[in-house]
Amino acid sequence: MDRTEELGLIKEIIGLAEQKSAYLDDTIAHSPISRYSSAERFERERATIFRRKPIVAAHSSELEGARAFLARDVMGLPVLLVRDDDGEVSAFLNVCRHRGAKLERESSGCKRVFTCPYHGWSWTNKGELRAVPQEAQGFPDLPRAERGLRRLPVAEAHGFIWVVANPDDGSSLDIDAWLGEIASDMDWLDLANHKIAVEETVEIAANWKVLVEGGIEAYHFRVAHAATIAPHFPDNLSTYRMFGPHMRSILPRSSMMELDEKPETEWEIRQDANVLYTLMPTTQMLVQQDHIVWINSEPLSEGRTALRLATLVPNDSPDTPEMQKHWQKNHQITHVTLMEDFVLGEEIQAGFASRGNPSHLFGRFEGALNRFNLVVEEMLTG
Ligand code: FES
Ligand SMILES: [Fe+2]
Repeated sequence: MDRTEELGLIKEIIGLAEQKSAYLDDTIAHSPISRYSSAERFERERATIFRRKPIVAAHSSELEGARAFLARDVMGLPVLLVRDDDGEVSAFLNVCRHRGAKLERESSGCKRVFTCPYHGWSWTNKGELRAVPQEAQGFPDLPRAERGLRRLPVAEAHGFIWVVANPDDGSSLDIDAWLGEIASDMDWLDLANHKIAVEETVEIAANWKVLVEGGIEAYHFRVAHAATIAPHFPDNLSTYRMFGPHMRSILPRSSMMELDEKPETEWEIRQDANVLYTLMPTTQMLVQQDHIVWINSEPLSEGRTALRLATLVPNDSPDTPEMQKHWQKNHQITHVTLMEDFVLGEEIQAGFASRGNPSHLFGRFEGALNRFNLVVEEMLTG
């Protein structure tokens, strides 16, 4: 984000506060509950979105140095991410090409050759079949070139490793084209020069979209977060802007309303607002004053979602026990606040079974939720 845009966003919020108005869409909208509760619908989302669109699979710092590897599930597929001796990243299915055993059992480490724990076939970190025990006798004329590891489209950009969780997709991945104009905000965040200070994974009994919806409006702060963050935020004040399928939300703190006492040259949006990026389909970044909370979700079914919450901090922040304590404390505050949202999400999901509510209503100041759902609908219909 450039300076003109940063000041424009702050002035927009101050203007709304002066008019005592929320940021309003033209109309209210309806969202049918089948979007969140149907197994058939979830399978369509998996096929047309989760297995087709670029997914953030890891932060670059997790795959640091030549021969580093990570084995993790990405959109339900076992994936092996490797960095070769030239620093290039590849993504493979973590599935043996002999009889399908899980090739790498460790979740991370450093290796150049991957050997299957079943019969000992091995592959290089470029995915080439290297050795087959008793090959001459058991597998005469084995077409070795056809037995390389199955490759997934992969790219390293903006501090993340992105994959398309689909071994049949032979295309190359252009992340800047996917991000469009929001790429300049990613540059502004300088994510490549960050490291993970604290992380955790939680599993929540709610649809992934219910959980996204829980974060992109400020209408609920006063009530749902009364005991935590509400006192630091003005009531029901936030803005959003779409960048293609992606969204940037500005959630101002009350301190933003006092900025007129300071010269404009000292205004910094990160000091007086949370900036929330919703990168389709499953990554959110909550940008706070001195750190970024990276939320990566892995939709498991129509009613279950695993979320990885990681506090990303600048590489040059000191590795001292005091700083670690500071990051832990901040992570804990975010955890408690997000759990308030997630518990509500679980209760909403449980309520779908009642069929009492055929659709949800989005008020004019909840327009971001409607826009997010329209993006999903558009992706579903291609
Ligand atoms: S299944 Fe992997 S070597 Fe046999
Ligand atoms: Fe919330």
